Amino acid sequence: MESKERIAIIGFMGSGKSTIGKLLAKRLGKSFLDLDEEIQKETGMSIRQIFEKFGEDHFRKLETIALKKATNVGQVVVSCGGGIVEKSENLRILNENFFVVFLDVPFEECYRRIYGDRNRPKLDANVEQLKLLFNKRKNLYQKVANLTYNVGKDSEQSAAENIARVILELDQL
Ligand code: S3P
Repeated sequence: MESKERIAIIGFMGSGKSTIGKLLAKRLGKSFLDLDEEIQKETGMSIRQIFEKFGEDHFRKLETIALKKATNVGQVVVSCGGGIVEKSENLRILNENFFVVFLDVPFEECYRRIYGDRNRPKLDANVEQLKLLFNKRKNLYQKVANLTYNVGKDSEQSAAENIARVILELDQL
């Protein structure tokens, strides 16, 4: 997709999608949407409550609905949940409607940031299982991404600035 009207931020839990996404939106003068927040607003339930009451499959359906809805919004940066790449339908939607930015952060750093977060039901798995999930998803993130940004030691602010610069440069081409 040529236009950068809609930007999706993807990456594992704890990669900084919401924080960097918000800063990026500000930088580019776009609005910001967080799919998990949209789902929580829509249902009046927390992510954990949705998982516990209706199961992960149901959550994934709500996630796809929220992603589809976001394709109707113009000039927006959308932060996606880490599991967005689990469904091929989502990969198609991302591919057709968004310029996709993957925040590449090592597993150990993501895990350090999210450890103990009760509203992330996927963290109920043990660390080995999470590492497997991370590795499986990393391939998918890379495949669907138009831009992979290696966050390294960058602050969230400079990551957002660098990504904005690349996007603006690409737009000049
Ligand atoms: C999930 C990631 C979460 C949220 C849900 C499931 C996942 O979003 O969508 O808990 O499967 O990785 P964040 O990536 O924003 O934590």
